[in-house]
Amino acid sequence: MIISTIAAMSDNRVIGADGRLPWNIPSDLTRFRSITMGHAVIMGRKTYESIGQPLVGRRNIVLTRRGSQIEGCEIARNLHAAIAAAEGEEEVFICGGGEVFEEALPLCQRVYLTIVHGNYQGDVLFPELPAGFVELHREEFPDTTPPSSFVVMEKVERVEAGVDAQQLRRKGREALNRQLFFLARRCFEQAQTLEENPETASDLAFSLIKSGGEARQAREMAEKALWQEPKNIRIILNTGRVLILSGDKSKGLDTLRKGVKAGGGPEFLAELARCGTRKLQPIKSLPRSHPLNRYLGLMLHRMNLK
Ligand SMILES: NC(=O)c1ccc[n+]([C@@H]2O[C@H](COP(=O)([O-])OP(=O)(O)OC[C@H]3O[C@@H](n4cnc5c(N)ncnc54)[C@H](OP(=O)(O)O)[C@@H]3O)[C@@H](O)[C@H]2O)c1
Repeated sequence: MIISTIAAMSDNRVIGADGRLPWNIPSDLTRFRSITMGHAVIMGRKTYESIGQPLVGRRNIVLTRRGSQIEGCEIARNLHAAIAAAEGEEEVFICGGGEVFEEALPLCQRVYLTIVHGNYQGDVLFPELPAGFVELHREEFPDTTPPSSFVVMEKVERVEAGVDAQQLRRKGREALNRQLFFLARRCFEQAQTLEENPETASDLAFSLIKSGGEARQAREMAEKALWQEPKNIRIILNTGRVLILSGDKSKGLDTLRKGVKAGGGPEFLAELARCGTRKLQPIKSLPRSHPLNRYLGLMLHRMNLK
């Protein structure tokens, strides 16, 4: 399970003022919702009170040393109990506030951080990141009010200058195994600039789509790699996964079945079992990963209707 922090801070590190966010950027709240939807979120009691209700479509775990029941939330008496409660989830999000970030950051592998440009007055600050976090993804939003940036950082040993393509591929594979998709993407991108290789291109395609990159680009990259090396089991697996994630489920499943015939092992069967038994998303015109589908799916599942 990946333990992630998600936060928004100003240039002078302010995250809260008088129990509230000091700004209102709807597009940032939408991104927060879509990143955390369907996952477990951990927050301090004061942050919960500032929101005033459980975050819909997510498992809400509220930290309090003395508070009792909160309807729609699980209560945890310390951070380790909160993380243990989320065990089994793919990713758990530490959502604040300042006191919780301070304690949790050393345990986190990934940080999603919105930087709100400007200096704000406030009473809660975002702590300094522990050593070892590397920025792997950045988007600029000059048109939000105020302007903002969105960065994703992962805790990694730095990708050293001077490493060769083989070392970068190995590091990328390790990152993929640990589901550190931004790091994997960066390693594979660097490896490809040093020495092009179809298998690395397909690893890059998979890490690209898993890290929120453009689905069409990932698909083209994966399909080109498969065309170059049609019998390569790893490329077949990556291509099947990328096709499914980009919305072409039937072609993806077909590719995975061909992989099984070509000698693909348990990873193919697990992927087929996972996708093959999944029912259609509630709103078929929207992708499965759309927040609305994730939320409705979760609700139907909880009501034993899906
Ligand atoms: N910009 C952002 O990204 C962001 C995100 C979240 C929040 N915020 C802002 O941050 C502010 C709130 O932050 P805050 O630091 O004052 O409070 P907080 O971290 O949200 O909550 C603190 C409370 O959580 C409980 N708690 C914390 N650590 C615990 C632990 N290890 N074990 C058990 N309980 C624990 C305690 O509750 P009890 O007192 O009940 O024991 C403590 O008083 C608000 O202004 C909010 O709007 C900003």
